[in-house]
Amino acid sequence: MEIRPTTDQDLDVYVDTLHAAFGLFPETPADGGGLWWSATEMDRNLLAVTADGRPVGTAGAYTFELTLPGEALVPTSGVTGVGVLPSHRRQGVLTAMMQRQLAEFRARGEFLSVLLASEAVIYRRFGYGPATYTQRLTVPRHQAAFALPRARGTADTAAPGPGTGSIELLRRAECGEILEAVYDRYRRAQPGALSRPHRWWALGAGRPPVSSASRYVAVHRDADGVPDGYACYSLGDGTLTVDETIATDDAVATALARFALEHDLVSQVVFKHVPSDHPLRWQLADFNAGEGSSSTDWLWVRLLDVPRALTSRGWFVDGELVLDVDDPFLGQHGRYLLTVRDGKAECVPTDREPDLSLDVSDLGSVYLGGTTPSTLVRAGHIRAHRPGAAALADALFSAERAPHCLHWF
Ligand SMILES: CC(C)(COP(=O)(O)OP(=O)(O)OC[C@H]1O[C@@H](n2cnc3c(N)ncnc32)[C@H](O)[C@@H]1OP(=O)(O)O)[C@@H](O)C(=O)NCCC(=O)NCCS
Repeated sequence: MEIRPTTDQDLDVYVDTLHAAFGLFPETPADGGGLWWSATEMDRNLLAVTADGRPVGTAGAYTFELTLPGEALVPTSGVTGVGVLPSHRRQGVLTAMMQRQLAEFRARGEFLSVLLASEAVIYRRFGYGPATYTQRLTVPRHQAAFALPRARGTADTAAPGPGTGSIELLRRAECGEILEAVYDRYRRAQPGALSRPHRWWALGAGRPPVSSASRYVAVHRDADGVPDGYACYSLGDGTLTVDETIATDDAVATALARFALEHDLVSQVVFKHVPSDHPLRWQLADFNAGEGSSSTDWLWVRLLDVPRALTSRGWFVDGELVLDVDDPFLGQHGRYLLTVRDGKAECVPTDREPDLSLDVSDLGSVYLGGTTPSTLVRAGHIRAHRPGAAALADALFSAERAPHCLHWF
């Protein structure tokens, strides 16, 4: 078995092998699905080939930027296109591709990688942990009244008030580069968000609104007419489905939610991607009007260099912790003293007694602030060696808001 990098000449064999691994046939770009591979970076993909030259496995990577807590932007690889033919599974093909990939990510100087998992049982063994979560929120129109009068919010409290902006309704095809620009502003301030490279938008490679599938888009503009948010949606069978709401501040998010919830000829509104700390249910008169569903993992994080990872994110609480981190897949083990002062961390090797012992996949899960260390202590994943260690870790690893990612790749 040989694992080799691909070139542009391998595109057809790469895509065919991947389709076969997923049991799919090449599709036409209908609702954003058919073009999902077109942004692929052929110089970053791998092909597993048998001794007699048959391709049996694929693993790819996209070049992204990830936003960490504290609005730190870092380069990362987004693992994608992972598949092994059903005839060659459970023989270590994926394991070999993962080893090769992680070595290459390190060689690029990256200290973390990310992926979306088709099945949650696959990637923990390779050091990845679920780090952001998302859910669907369904609100019946008849329960969608807002509790706050429109005039209540004021600028000095930063509460989302009436706003001074406007909403323009566009068809997806009329949006030009507005969505790309708004998304880019949003993702820079949202922990857990990934960049969406220009090529994706230009090729329509992805789910709506990245793809040019038929959609309406409510574009929010500020008082100067500058776009600062959008909601991309479709209507059918009395349901208004919002693919994604992107807002550069809370007042814009509120205006777009109102727009969706006040739409005529609609019995319910489905917001497809909502973070766990979404304020909408607090804004409605009926706290129980919104029903969360399809709660699921989204971005998985794999740390490749613990000290660099910990010193690169922003921190909001001072403190000191000794972390004993095991990385069985890479055959590594390290004990680090993490010291946070005034929003900055230092992380150095130590032989002090540990406060917490954990697997690198669990450190990936808590890294963006979306999973509390104490949850993983209670789950039996993380071992706390002294009272108070888990609570201190919860405070230390918290982020300014729940990390959220809605980019699909
Ligand atoms: C997931 C997939 C790539 C795994 O490839 P593979 O070559 O069979 O994986 P490996 O042989 O290297 O497996 C390594 C270990 O992971 C386990 N594993 C791998 N895939 C698993 C799965 N889907 N469910 C449970 N365990 C799995 C194996 O049992 C093995 O465990 P072991 O080390 O205890 O023996 C392959 O099953 C596949 O192509 N599935 C369909 C497409 C897909 O889901 N791709 C992932 C996209 S995110």
